[in-house]
Amino acid sequence: MYTEVVKIIEGGLRGDKDKILNYATVLANNLEQQGNPALSRKIRNILTERHGQLTALDNFIAKPVDTESRLEMVEITYPSVEAEKIVLNKHIAAEIQSFIEYYQKRDMLLQAGIETSFSMLLYGPPGCGKTTVAQYIASIMGLPLVCARLDSMVSSLLGSTAKNIRKIFDFVASRECILFLDEFDVIAKLRDDKNELGELKRVVNSLIQNIDSLHGDTILIAATNHHELLDPAIWRRFSKVLRLEKPNAEEIISLIQIILAGTKNNILGNPRKLEPLAAAFVDFSFSSIKTVLLNVIKNTIIHDMLSVTYAEILREIYMYSNHTIVEEDFLNYLLHYKVTQKEMHEIGIPLRKIQNILKEGKKEE
Ligand SMILES: Nc1ncnc2c1ncn2[C@@H]1O[C@H](COP(=O)(O)OP(=O)(O)OP(=O)(O)O)[C@@H](O)[C@H]1O
Ligand SMILES: [Mg+2]
Repeated sequence: MYTEVVKIIEGGLRGDKDKILNYATVLANNLEQQGNPALSRKIRNILTERHGQLTALDNFIAKPVDTESRLEMVEITYPSVEAEKIVLNKHIAAEIQSFIEYYQKRDMLLQAGIETSFSMLLYGPPGCGKTTVAQYIASIMGLPLVCARLDSMVSSLLGSTAKNIRKIFDFVASRECILFLDEFDVIAKLRDDKNELGELKRVVNSLIQNIDSLHGDTILIAATNHHELLDPAIWRRFSKVLRLEKPNAEEIISLIQIILAGTKNNILGNPRKLEPLAAAFVDFSFSSIKTVLLNVIKNTIIHDMLSVTYAEILREIYMYSNHTIVEEDFLNYLLHYKVTQKEMHEIGIPLRKIQNILKEGKKEE
């Protein structure tokens, strides 16, 4: 069985699709014979699901390259983001759902005489799900996500930038895929550089023309942290604009539940700990909350601790915000979140220090 695994890895690294498919089939057969039908079935399901996608990927082999650097300007992936792993407020979720339905029922719309283009602009602070939403849409639609590297596309020579934009749009034209223009503001920011205004206009116009000429099967999703920099003319091109914000208390709790699910902890199912944690995470992005919680989980694993605790998470939040521990301030922080003396002691704070701070607190009262 190990031989098949080695062959599959070799095939993967060399991009040899046939080798992967052949050896994965052999592996599935052997597993079945050796009495592991569940795993065998799982592999067969993946093979039938993914076979079509692997073939579709072949259509994309000749990727567009930057005229000067010869670097590839796009990256093609088949993301898989599960709906249960992503926290979306109900309005955003509904908008995404209807965007997907417009696309899936585009023939109905055409028959009704409505010619639609499928373009979405996502904006909002960093780490709040723009890239994740693009990946999520690609995964529920089963379409490849063609991510354009705008930094490589925005060539030092503006003349080439317009050409590069054209190449990318030509590449995706008439293909069933999602073109994802991440950090879309790179184009808008050109305005701040010392470039000739006329040249810049050409780039923006070329972008607009390309967006306008997109039709049929291609979906365009653009993302930016700096929507205010976008030219109004570009802004108008998008049929759907969504703002993705930092999570509110309820969303923070959902994210904590997703990340801590499967760990032993003293938090889930305990509103007296979940609610203060949501308060401690206020103003954090989804991505920062994820980083903090994953750090705590990693610590728990490598230090052989029995479970993820409320006090450990608070300590990590404090570290994330302050980058160091100022002892007195930290102890007051823990007291503010009603961490008990026992819990403080468990995260390594000497009892003497805890008692000192409590005494001082009493004196001030
Ligand atoms: N709504 C969400 N639900 C669950 N996880 C999320 C959500 N938004 C972001 N994350 C997590 O945060 C991390 C960063 O998210 P993402 O890359 O989508 O942010 P972004 O808005 O594209 O940020 P940037 O502006 O820096 O590109 C990812 O690991 C993602 O899993
Ligand atoms: Mg992003």
